[in-house]
Amino acid sequence: MAFQKPTGTQDLLPGTVETWQTVEQKARDLSRRFNYKEIRTPIFEQTELFKRGVGETTDVVEKEMYTFLDRGERSMTLRPEGTAGVVRAYVENKLYGEPDISKLYYIGPMFRYERPQAGRQRQFHQFGVEAFGATDPSIDAEVIALGYLFMKEVGLSGVRVEINSIGNADVRASYRQTLLDFLMPMKETLCKDCQSRMERNPLRVLDCKVDQDKFGGAPSILDSLDEECTTHFTKVKQHLDAMGVEYEVNSRLVRGLDYYTHTAFEYKAQGIGAIDTIGGGGRYNGLVSAIGGPDQPGIGFGIGMERIALLLEKQGVNANNQPPLDIYLIALGEQAEDEVTKLLFNLRTAGVVAEKDYQCRKMKAQMKSADRMQARFAAILGDDELARGEIALKDLATGEQRFVKLEELAQAVKQG
Ligand code: HAM
Repeated sequence: MAFQKPTGTQDLLPGTVETWQTVEQKARDLSRRFNYKEIRTPIFEQTELFKRGVGETTDVVEKEMYTFLDRGERSMTLRPEGTAGVVRAYVENKLYGEPDISKLYYIGPMFRYERPQAGRQRQFHQFGVEAFGATDPSIDAEVIALGYLFMKEVGLSGVRVEINSIGNADVRASYRQTLLDFLMPMKETLCKDCQSRMERNPLRVLDCKVDQDKFGGAPSILDSLDEECTTHFTKVKQHLDAMGVEYEVNSRLVRGLDYYTHTAFEYKAQGIGAIDTIGGGGRYNGLVSAIGGPDQPGIGFGIGMERIALLLEKQGVNANNQPPLDIYLIALGEQAEDEVTKLLFNLRTAGVVAEKDYQCRKMKAQMKSADRMQARFAAILGDDELARGEIALKDLATGEQRFVKLEELAQAVKQG
């Protein structure tokens, strides 16, 4: 029986993986420009961390976690998202004790047992950032802007930024009641999902795609914000304006995870079937203390790499910026073969992307390989050339051929 990959996972093969490498490189490059440092945390953590961090009543914790008992009978879970683990590491390593705030980023696999569809997998990858230690609204705007610039620089168009404020715990408690008063009379007419959300997390009801048309007159959370929350939100918008980051305020935007306070935001774009969210995040001022750390605020985002890759493909953006092969070496004769081994190693040492034949094929087949690999040059070494200390260098685009000294080959390829 032949094996197949698990449902909801992907093999990233050569030809596709180059796009991923470019996108990841962009994430690293941008994080560096914004002065975010990389953090790598374990792919599995104690189950309890996610229950407390992400929230017991969220879909993620209730239905989607890959949880198992290890051989020591401890309950472990493959991380369904990045924030909880980063917060745990921030607390455990006492990063809060440092004089400057902690600005961190990560790229890696996450796991959720969801029903797979385009842009939704069981193993997926996120580029995420988390900034700890500042309540200043300029950091909210900075995080939003980083994700916005990332999408722009990878070459995506039509990405919208939606922002909202979901206030603090008091604001949400009072809004929750106002919203329930509005929803109660229509409860029986709402879908099953909405009805269960009404009990668990009424704020998420407004997110429902099925019943959207019934919520026209729903109260807005922005009207429930107190002065402090309103001021914070106003300043976030001012900072975004200052950077020229375009956004829309969506007062119905509530995120699916429990830890958010104040700013919540999403990056959206059309093009992946029914899914339009490609990333999201927000502020989480109570999370660090909820998992046993000091009372430190935080804010961050997670962007789905599969969704970025799908959109790039959909929009016809060629994000693969890897140069093709520089040179393909062809040896004619036994003596030349030894010399090619040496030449190839020297070229590679000098930074040239170089390849040769390993299957003892005829010269014609080797030339075809060079073409398939999109080599810029082919270089042919026969015994005659070897005796003269030269090699025939052929430019495959123009067909032009010249002889260069063996020791000058790397230089010639780099220049030409
Ligand atoms: P999230 O909204 O659950 O937030 O996920 C962020 C992004 O990860 C989504 O917008 C989507 O692009 C991608 N994603 C989520 N689930 C899947 C899936 N099953 N298949 C493919 N892509 C998926 C978080 O995870 C928060 N930790 C973000 C955050 C960081 N908030 C503050 N800091």
